[in-house]
Amino acid sequence: MDRHLASAKEWFPHEYVPWSRGRDFEPGEEWDPAEFPLPDAVRDALFVNLLTEDNLPYYFHTIDNMFGPGVWGQWIRRWTAEEQRHSIVIRDYLTVTRAIDPVELERGRMAQVSGAVVPEPDTPVETLVYVALQELATRVAHRNTGKLIGDPVGYEVMARVAADENLHYLFYRDLVGEALAHDASAVVVAIDRQVRDFEMPGTGIHNFTARAASIARAGIYDLALHYEQVLVPVVLRHWKLEELEGLSDDAEEARTRVLAYMVRLESVARRLSERRQAKDGELIDA
Ligand SMILES: [Fe+2]
Ligand SMILES: [Fe+2]
Repeated sequence: MDRHLASAKEWFPHEYVPWSRGRDFEPGEEWDPAEFPLPDAVRDALFVNLLTEDNLPYYFHTIDNMFGPGVWGQWIRRWTAEEQRHSIVIRDYLTVTRAIDPVELERGRMAQVSGAVVPEPDTPVETLVYVALQELATRVAHRNTGKLIGDPVGYEVMARVAADENLHYLFYRDLVGEALAHDASAVVVAIDRQVRDFEMPGTGIHNFTARAASIARAGIYDLALHYEQVLVPVVLRHWKLEELEGLSDDAEEARTRVLAYMVRLESVARRLSERRQAKDGELIDA
């Protein structure tokens, strides 16, 4: 907690938003996508990323129930305040630039927050494993979205949010590291369940499956990135799953199962990467 507070820098959403590019929306005015041309996949990513941030009340509810008061409570409240900045800055940027349809966005927010669908891991240690993976996944998705907006201001907004997600990731990753030192077997069982069941937190968003497929095709977030940039660095390099010793029988079984799952994922990831490189090659040749 102290490390987080020392490394998190204060920043202001209003300083990132290009207000001078905005103008009033007349009531009933129809959104015109031509005012901010963008590939559909990037609009899908912005829609999903923002609605995911909007669902904060329910993440708070889940995590607060799991960890309760004390320093845990302090962390959850601080984390909530930081996360809320993300929806503020992304929404203001999108509204001012007209990069996505504000009516569809608001209806999507109402549906998402009314539905309250969030991942609910069973135990505190599973929750820690899940949020470590999810914060890093979110960092990758925000960064890649920012790179494709084609607007330096939008890039900075998404990079700023991604930098926060990175600090959240480090916080949770190192808590899991500490937990491994205390009870490796319990943590390995949690890793097995959370890696095999992993879902991004936006599953309650309208049309999520189609939007996730479009986001994957654009190379913003797909299984290959999930494997190479999330699972390998966290589970294998930082938590050193393969090298842990003295595990219980249950934990040994869990480790074997999750490593086998990762081997299968690696071959899917490799095929996806090859296909994407081939497609990029075609685009360059054309
Ligand atoms: Fe966030
Ligand atoms: Fe975060």
